[in-house]
Amino acid sequence: MPPNQTTLYYENEDVSRIPLYQKKGYRTTPLLFVNGRKVPLAQAVKARPNQTLLSFLRDVLQLKGSKLGCAEGGCGACTVMLSKKNSSNGTLQHMAANACLMPILAADGYHITTIEGIGSVHTQLHPVQQAMVDLHGSQCGFCTPGIIVSIYTLLTNHPSTDYLEEHLDGNLCRCTGYRPIWDAARSLCDDAVKGPCGTPCRDCPERDTCQQECNVNDQCCSSSSKDKQQMYQETFMKHKEDWSQQANQMFPAELLEESEALTQSLMVVDTTEYQAGGTWFKPTTFVELLSLLKEFAGGCKIVVGNTEVGIETKFKQAVYPRLVSPSDRITEIYGMEVVDNCLMIGSCCPLSTIQQKCHEWSQQDRLLRTTLPIHDMLRWFASTQIRNVACLGGNLVTASPISDMNPMLAASGATLVLTSLSDESIQRRTIRVSEFFLKYRTVDLKSNEIVERVEIPLVAPVLEYYKPFKQARRREDDISIVTASMRIKLQVQDGTYKIADAALAFGGMAPTTVMASQTAAVLIGAEFCAATFDVARETLLNELKLPPSVPGGQAAFRMSLAASFLYKFYLQCVEELQVDIQKIKEDPSLLSLVGDLPTAPAVDDQEMSGAKTFLSKPKPQFYGVQTYPAPKVASGLEDKSLPSVDLDSESTKVAAEVGKAATHMSGPLHCTGEAVYVDDIPLPPGSLQAYLVQAKQCGVTFESLDAAPALSIPGVVAVYGYDDLIKLGGKNEYGPVVKDETVFLPPGEEIRMVGQVLAIVVAETLESAELGARSCKIEYGAASSKKIIVSIEDAIEAGSFYEIGRHGLERGDVSVLNSLATTEDFQGEPKVGDIVKVSGVFKSGAQEHFYLETNCSLCIPSENDLTIYCSTQATNKTQMFAASATGTPANKVVVRMKRMGGGFGGKETRSVFASCAAAVAAKISNRPVRLTLGRDVDMKTTGTRHCFITYYSASAEITENGAKLVAFDAKLFNNAGSGLDLSSPVMDRALFHVDGCYYYPHFRIEGVPCKTVQPPHTAFRGFGGPQGMVVAEHVIDHLATACKVPGDKIRKDNFYQIGHHMHFGMIIGEQFSGKWNVPSMWDRIYRDQNVVERRKEIDAFNAKHKWVKRGLAVLPTKFGIAFTAKFMNQGGALVHLYTDGTVLVSHGGTEMGQGLHTKVCQVAAQAFGIPLENVYVNDSSSDKVPNAIPTAASMSTDMYGMATLDACRQIIARIKPIQHKLGPDATLKEIALAAHMERIDLSAHGFFALDTSRCGFDWTKNKPEDFPDDAPENSWKGHPFNYFTQGVACAEVELDLLTGNHKTLRADVLVDVGSSINPAIDIGQIEGAFIQGMGWSTMEEVIYSDDDHRWCGPRGTVFTAGPGTYKIPAFNDVPEIFNVSLLENVDNPFAVHSSKAVGEPPFVLGTSVFYAIKDALIAARKSNLNDQQYFEMRMPATSERIRMYAADPLVSQALSTMLGEESTATTFQPQGSY
Ligand SMILES: Cc1cc2nc3c(=O)[nH]c(=O)nc-3n(C[C@H](O)[C@H](O)[C@H](O)COP(=O)(O)OP(=O)(O)OC[C@H]3O[C@@H](n4cnc5c(N)ncnc54)[C@H](O)[C@@H]3O)c2cc1C
Ligand code: FES
Ligand code: FES
Repeated sequence: MPPNQTTLYYENEDVSRIPLYQKKGYRTTPLLFVNGRKVPLAQAVKARPNQTLLSFLRDVLQLKGSKLGCAEGGCGACTVMLSKKNSSNGTLQHMAANACLMPILAADGYHITTIEGIGSVHTQLHPVQQAMVDLHGSQCGFCTPGIIVSIYTLLTNHPSTDYLEEHLDGNLCRCTGYRPIWDAARSLCDDAVKGPCGTPCRDCPERDTCQQECNVNDQCCSSSSKDKQQMYQETFMKHKEDWSQQANQMFPAELLEESEALTQSLMVVDTTEYQAGGTWFKPTTFVELLSLLKEFAGGCKIVVGNTEVGIETKFKQAVYPRLVSPSDRITEIYGMEVVDNCLMIGSCCPLSTIQQKCHEWSQQDRLLRTTLPIHDMLRWFASTQIRNVACLGGNLVTASPISDMNPMLAASGATLVLTSLSDESIQRRTIRVSEFFLKYRTVDLKSNEIVERVEIPLVAPVLEYYKPFKQARRREDDISIVTASMRIKLQVQDGTYKIADAALAFGGMAPTTVMASQTAAVLIGAEFCAATFDVARETLLNELKLPPSVPGGQAAFRMSLAASFLYKFYLQCVEELQVDIQKIKEDPSLLSLVGDLPTAPAVDDQEMSGAKTFLSKPKPQFYGVQTYPAPKVASGLEDKSLPSVDLDSESTKVAAEVGKAATHMSGPLHCTGEAVYVDDIPLPPGSLQAYLVQAKQCGVTFESLDAAPALSIPGVVAVYGYDDLIKLGGKNEYGPVVKDETVFLPPGEEIRMVGQVLAIVVAETLESAELGARSCKIEYGAASSKKIIVSIEDAIEAGSFYEIGRHGLERGDVSVLNSLATTEDFQGEPKVGDIVKVSGVFKSGAQEHFYLETNCSLCIPSENDLTIYCSTQATNKTQMFAASATGTPANKVVVRMKRMGGGFGGKETRSVFASCAAAVAAKISNRPVRLTLGRDVDMKTTGTRHCFITYYSASAEITENGAKLVAFDAKLFNNAGSGLDLSSPVMDRALFHVDGCYYYPHFRIEGVPCKTVQPPHTAFRGFGGPQGMVVAEHVIDHLATACKVPGDKIRKDNFYQIGHHMHFGMIIGEQFSGKWNVPSMWDRIYRDQNVVERRKEIDAFNAKHKWVKRGLAVLPTKFGIAFTAKFMNQGGALVHLYTDGTVLVSHGGTEMGQGLHTKVCQVAAQAFGIPLENVYVNDSSSDKVPNAIPTAASMSTDMYGMATLDACRQIIARIKPIQHKLGPDATLKEIALAAHMERIDLSAHGFFALDTSRCGFDWTKNKPEDFPDDAPENSWKGHPFNYFTQGVACAEVELDLLTGNHKTLRADVLVDVGSSINPAIDIGQIEGAFIQGMGWSTMEEVIYSDDDHRWCGPRGTVFTAGPGTYKIPAFNDVPEIFNVSLLENVDNPFAVHSSKAVGEPPFVLGTSVFYAIKDALIAARKSNLNDQQYFEMRMPATSERIRMYAADPLVSQALSTMLGEESTATTFQPQGSY
């Protein structure tokens, strides 16, 4: 027995009891059915009590299609469908569930459908899979199997778009932006959205030629070809019945017939070495259940959905020796009914059943007011997958202070029936829900008791009001920040409405669900009017007052929310009272009343806008049009720089492949779950699993590590650290720019970040490795008195910078720039000729990459070689650092990369620390080692997009008709973290883009990377560019307010013009930086999107709505394309032509979902004149294309397209004489075979290096003496970009000021991507980037334990370490109308086939949503503060910031109650980690 792990083991006394239960006839093996087949006994017996369904599917059944994205039910990558026969009505029920949380033994008696059971590339794709392929619904493909299973479940249950949005609320996708997934799902629904002509677009025979708004100019980016049409007709429409019955037909007969075994109880004992999983009981009768609780009182845990218990065991290391999972045959706890005036809900009844029944019952007047609020709250509770398994009993007993249902039940006056077995008789007691919660996560429940049912008194049909409230960071699948439920009962007395009863319950305002009883007391007996609620609000704020440092943070927001919910409640009650008055007038029997009915309190319409809430609104349907020009094979850079050769053969002239909206070449594999990611590769025999040992604190020395406890755990093979690496002859240091990081921190050195890697544990199983890593004893040195530097402000205070990355530039008149520092900020009314100067600070937050596939490496040693399969954007870096860490020459290390489940820059350098550690372990143990980072580990250690703080001054001159920009001076700081990584080039790119699209004659910038204890921060889509550009927009907004000129006008009047030079010396103009399209694109968006009219409509809307405001923003971008380090602008490719006429391309780029391989194959197919399916990219491998530059900077198609074309043209030049010989009808197969017989080399290596005059920038280079005076300033330093990808976006939003909730009503995006090689892929990149940019600037917030967040662990710890705490946009966040267009008639002579890079440039356009929110907030502050002044709006615009920036009297009241001083609402800044 390993030390410190005693709780893991079964106590002996319990083991001795097991046979007793066996005698009682318990089954000991679960009945499991997967994809229509019964799991054979040999595998079923391997199911362990503490094993998840996902682990069983992947590790035991080897079904790798379901993915592990988070292990906490927050991403949906593991979604499977559960089916069972409803024993009451005999129908089949199908539901989606998270396999990562569901225990395998809970699947006993269910039929499980995984992605593999739906369709396969080896047989036939199911229409859902085919639709996802054809409509471009997958990019990296890692989320895809889970999403397809969710859609499949929806179609099996109710193929209607009404349920679509809700059904996908538990699935995240980081790549696509969701729109194409929507389209794919919708296309198969019975009520599929129809085109304006009335026919569903998918079925339209004239789709290709249709000119309706639903289609695109020349070709639809969705499935348009006739053969696909035919396929749908033949496979789906004709056989629709079969497809829709597939799930029912697959349902196993044994389950249908309800074999006797199913009625038997189940008991499974963990027979593995430790019995760590304990014992699983599944009793089938109530008495049996109660007797188990009695028998093991205090020693067993009830588990129903396992959505809480699963989290406790996985992340909090809770261990339960006995788990009792009641069978759903126990009707006492699974039923739901209305008895007399009471709604009775069995404590184990799934939340989705409650939601559905409440919805149905809401049709009955008698039940409506009780059931509809419950339905509305449940609709926004967790996700479909969670609601399908979780229960009310779980919510109640967990007693989370932010539980959503507990306040609902408490406010309704519900009681619980608590049941136990005593002396063979069943004992029941009741308790009010409001009295059930004793203290933090503690309830009044005895160890032998179960919550049997909840009894909710019905709300009266008139004059009683019961409402739910919830606000979180994200609407869908998010735990509340504050949640509440309120109920009041009115009676007519003395000619007014008096409040006869009131109950207000809150979550998020105390360590438990709390009743605001003092506030209720104020209400009870008082008149129902605004004045009463004003008094009540004051009482409430005092009653629920939070200290500013409250655990969980956001104290002021939470108080403001509590006050806002109360006000909303009042407005909602007034609204409903008005309805009731009408109802009573029509049916006086509803109320026994003497005399007239009083009127409802008067509330004007403006004020009444505050009554709205998203909870009760129908979930929206989304809509989008994608427009792009007719495909063409444009000629580009290749015609300037490569020899022009063409096969020019009749038989090889196929339809153009370049320009075609081809689908992602791995689409079918993604959609069937057959695409292989590193964690899916079958392990070679003898493989070990690895887990990292990481520091739990920083700022202290790492004294020593005692591995003995880990080594005593069976299965643990070794623990390797610094000494082992040195003995191996390896080098411990690595880093992409400077080698300032270590593979394993040497003992005696200071720990620089929480999570720093100290050692690696390798074991026979992942469980042992994880347990081993946790068991290692780490000795830390004494804490120093020095402040641990976490934030940028800490670093500035301490002067903690990376001097090497400090760069600056100056252009224009220094005296004008210097005068900015000495001039006061402009105040007052500007007049023509005035120079208006502003100064301030702008903060933008960090962003977690949240690629769905976490970092993973599999290192296989063989002889003296090492092969590494790694999810990385940088095969070369992985190879070189693994070689160095293991002391192996690079020529003996091969790195292979098939595909990543997303990268976005996060796997450019940050995958290396993990692959090096695994490589060292593999090399020493001489056994294959796999290291897959858990989501929490990945998020805590791999770094993020950099947060920035910028201090700026700027000026503009007032002109007759607006303002002209004059000077800009800014100092940018980024939080680089504990290693430099790429922070310096990221800062450089921010400096290159901090001008936005605007010309300032005088310009000065400086960038300073700050050294802190955060993990080293790194590349993320845009690589600092977006962080620079948002500063530009912020400063324009600031100047606009001070100059009193509309922001759009300042923008338009100050765009760069042709001939202007940028601060780094490049000139705006076709031959220098590509055609300058921003001004005309701006005008087009303005015109086409009717911006002027829409702004007027928004003003009118805002004037009518006090609490709901709309805003609109138009945003331009220019994004420079090229690596700014000159040497990186190179790429290689290897092309083989085989004698069957097929082509294999290998190139230096990696596929992470961006469609690079598809585009490169299109280029090769075009070159040879063969169909796309005859070209293939297998993987990216360091032995095929050496020294590859990381796949980054959006440059890969530019580089590898050219390199591939170079290789293709070499081969074509060699085989052209053969083709002449064979004649014009010879096929490529014939030509290739004949060439081979003639001993002609059919393989070529291609290479591309960007013209040296069009890339590279040396910040340190001074002006050469002979540099021409008329050349642009700083152009002697270089020419950092080849060209600019440009775009303009327009976004419109609506805010609920009382809660901070926002929704994006519409977004229109226009991007210049040159002549697109693949418009469908480019549009996919634009949509995905837009949603990522929107997420960064609105809801994604990385939180550290710092001065403002002391409650979240040792200083420097990342708090946001999973989807539970870190929110990326979900389906519900997509703009309701989301249109994307590609600019027509744009060629780009500087890239292959005249295309342009697309991956990063549109990212910043997503921040148009942030600026639209700001626009709406300006309107809000104008009415709340009568203030049109500038305010420092920080990024991201979270619900907290939106609520607090509204700065209305409720916010002021909350702040003054909390801080005990006069309101600071105008200047209040919510906390954030920067
Ligand atoms: C991704 C995710 C999102 C979530 N979102 C939300 C949300 O939006 N709002 C919210 O409030 N919660 C949320 N939760 C929390 C959780 O889903 C709920 O608390 C749920 O109701 C728990 O039910 P369960 O059946 O899964 O409980 P389990 O995990 O099975 O059990 C939880 C606890 O309750 C006990 N228990 C269960 N049933 C009974 C019973 N009948 N009698 C006595 N004890 C019992 C168990 O012993 C255990 O202690 C979320 C959880 C996850 C993982
Ligand atoms: S892996 Fe199951 S929800 Fe993320
Ligand atoms: S395709 Fe959805 S996460 Fe990549």
